[in-house]
Formats: sequence, structure tokens, C-alpha cells
Amino acid sequence: MRYRLKQIQCRPWTLSGLSVPLIESHYENNYGGALRRLNAITEQLESLDFAKTPAHVLNGLKREELVALNSTLLHELYFASLGGNGQPTTGMSEILARDFGSLERWRAEFRAMGYALGGGSGWVLLTYVPRDRRLINQYGSEHSQSIASGVPILALDMYEHAYHMDFGANARAYVDTFFRNLDWPALENRCEDAQTVPPPRLLEQPEFGDLQGIGVEEVKAMMAAGQRVQVIDVRPRHNVSRQQDIVEGVEWRDPERVQEWMGELSKSEPVVVYCAYGFQVGCKTAIKLREAGFDTKYVNSGHSGWKAIGSPVKMHL
Ligand SMILES: [Fe+2]
Repeated sequence: MRYRLKQIQCRPWTLSGLSVPLIESHYENNYGGALRRLNAITEQLESLDFAKTPAHVLNGLKREELVALNSTLLHELYFASLGGNGQPTTGMSEILARDFGSLERWRAEFRAMGYALGGGSGWVLLTYVPRDRRLINQYGSEHSQSIASGVPILALDMYEHAYHMDFGANARAYVDTFFRNLDWPALENRCEDAQTVPPPRLLEQPEFGDLQGIGVEEVKAMMAAGQRVQVIDVRPRHNVSRQQDIVEGVEWRDPERVQEWMGELSKSEPVVVYCAYGFQVGCKTAIKLREAGFDTKYVNSGHSGWKAIGSPVKMHL
């Protein structure tokens, strides 16, 4: 299979402060070079007899394939990032404020990362992480560092070939020029596309039917908002005596004795139970409570999930 050169994703003559010869050289020599290398590596890999190929040959080719493919993809994204007027769109400003606190905060970090690579080399990327449904700024060194499952939506090339012809060693001026040419509407479109990538599927537990799990953040938000919810720690007794800690404001109840304590609960308020990691015990207890008429859910990450988000705990014993 041969990879094809893509038409340059911006119109070089419309850019402000980035010369046409710089962009053309970048496109032909670096983007084009990566793609030609990628095709040569692919051809070589296709001709290998893997049973007879020494490990070091295969290792080298697969590493180089990753470098060349990522370089190709990131250069396409880099050119597509340029060509705008640098004016942030409302939609993108809101998304960046959601994930970074504010547009300014995001821009300050991204820009500082670019400055910090002056005199060095690498990519600065804005990447969408489907698992957490959020954006993150990352470095991509050697073209091969990438966040597993991440979708890069903005790329700043900090290799010297991207700016030396116009800016010499003044990497800061290049980064500022990049921002002035940023195509925000195109970035927003890519962000919209990236956000359609679903997070990894949750564990299926068919033995528990349609029992609903709930995220620990959601429960915490309900409690913080003063919503009436009965949260109960139902870790097995041996687990509690080993770990000895419990989330503050939550009571522990023995899952073996659910029939004895369920009468103390109110049927007019939702019940949320959890065990250690969100599997068997929490689910079984939730089912028993549901069968008894309580509106019950289980926390799908259990006691560990509470601790992972920094909820204060106290000693139980
Ligand atoms: Fe480049």
C-alpha cells in the first residue's frame, strides 16, 4: 500500500509573517520527505520474510515507520492549523475554558510550551482524549510520542526547519506568528469531529441486568449541591478491616446484613452503594435494595474511585 501526498492544507500566500518559500520548503522537503520515507519503509516491510528477518532489522523498520507516519500526519495537521485570522471562535473559547479554566490559560500554556522548545525540537499539540472527554496540551518529541487513543486537533511544529528561514533563532517570534495565523473555525470543526469519538466501552456485567452504575464525580456533585442522596459504603467486612479508611460523611454497612439495616433507609430518596472496586458486592447489594423498593444505583469505581478524585477519608476503626 502506498501513502499519498495530500494537497497542502492551507494557502501559503495568505499567511501573515510566514514566507511562501518557508512554507513551500517545509511542505516539499519535510512533509514530502516524511511521506517518501514512509512509502520506502512500507515497501521494505511488505517484502520481508518475517521468519528470517533479524529482530534488529524489524525493530528499526517499525520504529522508523512510526516516526515517518506520525511526521506525515502531524505535518498535515500543522498546515491545516494555519490560514486563519487568529481570532478565537466563541465555541472554541468555551471548550478551552471548560478544560483549561479559560482561553487565556490554555493559550499561555500552549505558547509557553512552544517557547520552551526554542533551540530544541518537537511538536506542541492540542489533543482530545476520548476517555476523559477533554483536551490536553502535549509535547510530541521525535514525531513518535502520542497519547494512546488521543486525537490531535492542533499542531505547532517546533523543529527549526519550520521557522529558521524566516526567524533565525527567534523561536518566540515564530510562535507568536503561528498564533496570529491560527485558523480557529477549522480548529473548532476538528474539535467537533474529535468529540464524536466515544470513550472506551464500560465493563459489561450481564449477570446484573440493567442495574445502573453511576460515576463517583456525579455522586460527589449531587452531595455538594445538597441533593438528598443516601450514600452507603458496602465493602465486605474483611476489606474494610484491611484498608481501615472510609470516605468522610459516608457510613459503612455490612453487605452480609443488608436485610437488617435496609429498614433504616428512606424510600423517598435515592440510594447509592459502593464496594471496593465497583464489582460484585456493590452490584449485589444494589439489586437487593432495588428489589425491596429502593431507587438504588452502584458507584462503578467503588471506594478506589472516591480516593482517586481526592475525597477526604478518615479512619474507620
Ligand atoms: Fe516540520
